Amino acid sequence: MNAQELRTKYLEFFKSKGHTIIPSASLVPENDPTTLFTGSGMQPMVVYLLGEKHPLGDKLVDSQKCFRTQDIEEVGDNRHTTMFEMLGNWSLGDYFKKEQIAWMFEFLTKEAGLDPKNLYITVFRGNENLGIPRDVQAVSLWQEQFKSVDIEAKDVDFSQENGMADGRIFYYEEKKNWWSRAGVPDNMPVGEPGGPDSEMFWDFGAELGLHEKSQFRDLPCHVNCDCGRFMEIGNNVFMQYVKTQKGYELLPKGNIDFGGGLERMAAAMNNTSDIFLTDLFSSIIAKIEEISGKKYGESEEVKRSFRVIADHLKASTFLIADGVIPSNTERGYFLRRLIRRAVRYGKLIGIEKDFVVSVAEIVIQNYSEHYGELAKNREMIFAELKKEEEKFGKTLESGLKILEKTVAVTWDDLDKPWDENKQTWDAEKITGKLIFELFSTYGFPKEMIIEEANYRNILIPKKSLEEFEEEFKKHQQLSRTASAGMFKGGLQDSGEETAKLHTATHLLLAALRNVLGEHVFQKGSNITAERLRLDFSYSEKLTPAQLSEVEEFVNEVIRADLEVQKAEMSLEEAKKIGAMGVFEAKYGEFVSVYSILDGEKVISREICGGPHASCTGALGRFRIQKEEASSAGVRRIKAVLE
Ligand code: ALA
Repeated sequence: MNAQELRTKYLEFFKSKGHTIIPSASLVPENDPTTLFTGSGMQPMVVYLLGEKHPLGDKLVDSQKCFRTQDIEEVGDNRHTTMFEMLGNWSLGDYFKKEQIAWMFEFLTKEAGLDPKNLYITVFRGNENLGIPRDVQAVSLWQEQFKSVDIEAKDVDFSQENGMADGRIFYYEEKKNWWSRAGVPDNMPVGEPGGPDSEMFWDFGAELGLHEKSQFRDLPCHVNCDCGRFMEIGNNVFMQYVKTQKGYELLPKGNIDFGGGLERMAAAMNNTSDIFLTDLFSSIIAKIEEISGKKYGESEEVKRSFRVIADHLKASTFLIADGVIPSNTERGYFLRRLIRRAVRYGKLIGIEKDFVVSVAEIVIQNYSEHYGELAKNREMIFAELKKEEEKFGKTLESGLKILEKTVAVTWDDLDKPWDENKQTWDAEKITGKLIFELFSTYGFPKEMIIEEANYRNILIPKKSLEEFEEEFKKHQQLSRTASAGMFKGGLQDSGEETAKLHTATHLLLAALRNVLGEHVFQKGSNITAERLRLDFSYSEKLTPAQLSEVEEFVNEVIRADLEVQKAEMSLEEAKKIGAMGVFEAKYGEFVSVYSILDGEKVISREICGGPHASCTGALGRFRIQKEEASSAGVRRIKAVLE
């Protein structure tokens, strides 16, 4: 059975258990301004896990496209990818642990044909401080399943310190066996669902000696060890808690969120620890072999390049199909990095001609049956990829030459960046200005320049990176001014100072609502390069004490240096998440929402055309100059940043 068949089998299996098959949501989250990409099967389901009724029922099954930006530079080993498919089955307050564990065992051992002798399990140890007990129920349910195939499944605690002790089921802390979008319980914002989980691991076998060969050899091996002997293939989340002001409260009904990487399950089925050897990648790899004239396994370096190209172009193909276009901001920037990185790695394995479209062609062939959006958007995918490859392909070599010239390496060295003993670059010469020039003129994303340096065991000085950020911001402001007409808010002036004053205005409104009450709303504002002016609904003169409280509130947020987050969404969504706005008639169907969060707390969330400072720390000191009446029931504050 190949991986494509495994996907179908999984969907059909859960259908036979009363589930409805639902399509994958887009990689671009539709109702979630908190993240740029869909990174787990659970993300599009949050509202349903919190109790809203799903139109297709309370037992669902899917294969969700996922993209994780944090993994970009990890790609190159045998198991990391930026894009993967997460098989998921969902109980929205219907069945719970008992059914899930029995079905999962049945699916893995009977349908996927995995030998139960090589399956290992982890469960949540419990934590008294959180008031959440050890998951003894999951343990006995798993034991029952293993018993049905004559395996005595011993449970063992603290295996990472003491070794596996012939155990089959292992307890771990919340870092490993708790799941929420935000990670461990402490990081969960109020209102976020989460719960203990139970993961399944595939054992490639102690006899391979992977642990002894690894850097972890002096520590006991256990299922969560990174030596490569074990691979996680799935996670059953018992999503039954919601974080509240008081702690962790049980949801009215327990949910199941199962997520299993299709690529990893396929690797376990083939008993290979290299997911790039599964059928999901084999035709892509074959294409790269054809184009480059190199063989996938011929050396570790070549293998690494193949993996980067295969993963990045697959992810790029899916992202473009979901409407992402290469650019220098947000989603588009990640896409740009993927394509350019693939082009760079193509050069390393000797590919001279344009190649990204021919790889994308194979991706579309492989996946269109299940993900129809790929074939449907074929022409757009090809056009965007081609454009980006041409743009970067032209400047890649000259960019590298500039680097070479400035930091004194020989051209030959650039084709062999993995020689670890080579100290060819003078790190001090990689200034912020050079990084910016490589970015703006030659199209090198900053991260790629850092990577080029890292291969040569060179660390770019922190000072240079900071210098680059400054240059970058300056440049951004300039290009914003040039295109100020684009902002729907109709803002006149987009200099850096006014950007800061815009952010300060949001903070001022938040402060007024905090000090005077939630009935305070913005009535108007006017910003020049020197000062801000805010009109707001309130009928009395503010006391000196109130004014200084307002000032202090704003300055405290400035001191905390919080990020100013921007998200685009429909006006309707913006209202749904509680974004404040003033002149509704002016807004288009799509709006930008700027949020300032302190951990889980929303300090400010407003619909606004921007521009804004990127963090509150840039604002300086906030001082109120004047407070006066504006019209009946409306007060006016003028303030400055010092
Ligand atoms: N939501 C769980 C995960 O992503 C299944 O691991």
